[in-house]
Amino acid sequence: AMNLFIDRLLKQMTVEEKVGQLTLFTSDMDVTGPTLRSTYKEDIQKGRCGAIFNAYSPPYVRQLQDLAVKQSRLKIPLLFGYDVIHGHRTIFPIPLGEACTWDMGLMEKTARAAAVEASADGLHWTYSPMVDIARDPRWGRVAEGVGEDTWFGEQVARAKVRGYQGDLTKPDQVLASVKHFALYGAIQAGRDYNTVDMSHREMFQTYLPPYKAAVDAGAATVMTSFNEVDGIPATANRWLMTDLLRKQWGFKGFVVTDYTAINEMIQHGVGANEYEVGALALRAGVDMDMQGDVYRTQLPKLLADKKITMQELDAATRRVLEAKYRLGLFQDPYKYISEERAQREIMSADKLELAREVARKSIVLLKNEAVAGNPVLPLKKSGTIALIGPLADNKRDMIGNWSAAGDWQKAVSLREGLQTKLGNSATILYAKGANLIDDKELVTKLNNNGGNISTDEKTPEQLIAEAVATAQKADVVVMAIGESQGMTGEAASRSEIGIPENQRKLLEAILATKKPVAVVLMNGRPLTLEWEHQHVPALLETWFLGTQAGHAIADVLVGDYNPAGKLTMTFPRRVGQIPVYYNAKNTGRPIDPNNKYTSKYLDVPNTPLYPFGYGLSYTNFSYSDITLNNPTLTATGKLEVSVTVKNTGQYAGEEVVQLYIRDLVGSVTRPLKELKGFQKISLKPGESRNVTFTLKEADLRFYDAAMKWTSEPGDFTVFVGTNSQEVKEARFKLVR
Ligand code: IFM
Repeated sequence: AMNLFIDRLLKQMTVEEKVGQLTLFTSDMDVTGPTLRSTYKEDIQKGRCGAIFNAYSPPYVRQLQDLAVKQSRLKIPLLFGYDVIHGHRTIFPIPLGEACTWDMGLMEKTARAAAVEASADGLHWTYSPMVDIARDPRWGRVAEGVGEDTWFGEQVARAKVRGYQGDLTKPDQVLASVKHFALYGAIQAGRDYNTVDMSHREMFQTYLPPYKAAVDAGAATVMTSFNEVDGIPATANRWLMTDLLRKQWGFKGFVVTDYTAINEMIQHGVGANEYEVGALALRAGVDMDMQGDVYRTQLPKLLADKKITMQELDAATRRVLEAKYRLGLFQDPYKYISEERAQREIMSADKLELAREVARKSIVLLKNEAVAGNPVLPLKKSGTIALIGPLADNKRDMIGNWSAAGDWQKAVSLREGLQTKLGNSATILYAKGANLIDDKELVTKLNNNGGNISTDEKTPEQLIAEAVATAQKADVVVMAIGESQGMTGEAASRSEIGIPENQRKLLEAILATKKPVAVVLMNGRPLTLEWEHQHVPALLETWFLGTQAGHAIADVLVGDYNPAGKLTMTFPRRVGQIPVYYNAKNTGRPIDPNNKYTSKYLDVPNTPLYPFGYGLSYTNFSYSDITLNNPTLTATGKLEVSVTVKNTGQYAGEEVVQLYIRDLVGSVTRPLKELKGFQKISLKPGESRNVTFTLKEADLRFYDAAMKWTSEPGDFTVFVGTNSQEVKEARFKLVR
């Protein structure tokens, strides 16, 4: 039925109407890139534009849909897209934070909740999940992904696609757009939009699998990346968009560009003008032009000049129409527009509860040392607590970058969270202590990008003096410091990724009071925290946790929830180590401190400050040695890998038990460790549990010397532990 319907429609369409369906414009409700076309409403009426992004809320979306279905000649409904990255109006933690829950079910639930809320607000389509593997924390967009591991990234990709678009016949789903296809996370030097260059082996082994996982899970759309792939910009890359994506992977949906990515191919230098780059994009297999207006202006001429064919144009148009058909928009263009649903779903109690749950599960305890015999955390629920820092009473930043239609004023600040929790039992004093940033040039830059960073009327010295006086009145100090939300995200790369200098000064002054200090970090990327790790007894990584951040952090600070988050991206000691990631290769000269000619630095260890998989708890877990059911694994067999994990501390807690493997000899070099399994368990004090993983031959596959996806018989090490560095190990053999 769909094919017949679309065949009939295509026959009625002029070339201009077809290219209209391939044209996506932003509305002025929110603008997420460098351009805005002010005539978008007229474009809709005239059939020059088939999809709109950055427009939401029933009245506005209805107004635009009216223009399409009441005023355009063919009455083809509009498709509405938006960056619903970590929640729509109820904001969940940034993806890099949420990943630290290691809870796929929960990550699916937040995608589902976001879909319900976004679709109730008129949206059909989200530009998520972002599944770019990233090993460089200088890149601000690491906040939007789930870190450095491929296998982990594949699982999240599937969970997110399932959550967004379960059953497309129901109006509470949104189409997913897996992005940024491909390899965007590997931009050189962490500088946004920069060049990517990597081997095909690395592409297939490390970077491509999460996109493929999303496609296999049914992602309806794919977004092209800004970067080049093997010398050809992704948006002109026919090998990528057609041979790989459609022919090999069987992708059936449509491909949309990133913002003006077609136009930017002139700067890349693969075409002299819009006419040339427009042809490259369409012929590569790119269906929809986001905001560039190249397809609309160039495709008719290209067709007349026989540079593209009517079949190519029809194929792209068909794919876009199919998406609209699958959503049921031809039957009811207003299916997603309901004030009543919006009223019921937006920021509903269950979503806020979910936001709090996922927020506290995203928190990672980095350090918790005893001061005068007692660990600083959890805090006592009585006495006097000094809450200090530019992020302590700050809602704008804690909801994070890409917070879509999230209203920061509805977020719960840390100060409010603590006050609500402890207001009756403890005294909470507050001092700002420092501006987020004192560097005037940076403040101007960030504010020009919508940063909202204010500079206090008081001088930095006055702010610090006030904070020190406040600390002196307290039994314990909680400091909320870190980045502003605008210091991460798109176009927010940093060459130094530490705590801004003025905040460091504040921290030094507070530490000098000799009060016990717990630092609550808010930031969107792994930071370099060598100094802080050395000097501060307790460090809690809270990322940007979203709408319920304050409640969630308060839950953890006082021990109502025992933190269990584990990092999914390595924290370097220093920028000079980057890229530093857990699944590195051994090299021919692995580090040997006694031998000059080995792979190391003179001035810093090779190890990171906090490795992949790292995160502490208020309790302690001990691991037994590994037992294997068999020293060999056959092609059809199962290897059972078991450990006993015991809670040896005083609090009930959760632990993510992690399994890694190493293939010792291969036809190509293999990483020192690869994550292949994890289980999140919960143990009462004194309780122990046997945790068993099952490994099969298929878990040991990789791209061999001939680029075949296979395993090779021989020796393997299996590791089980609390993070990628602290592990028990055992040997087994794969036999054929
Ligand atoms: O979805 C985003 C993308 O990640 C970066 N450029 C703009 C797009 C649409 O807002």
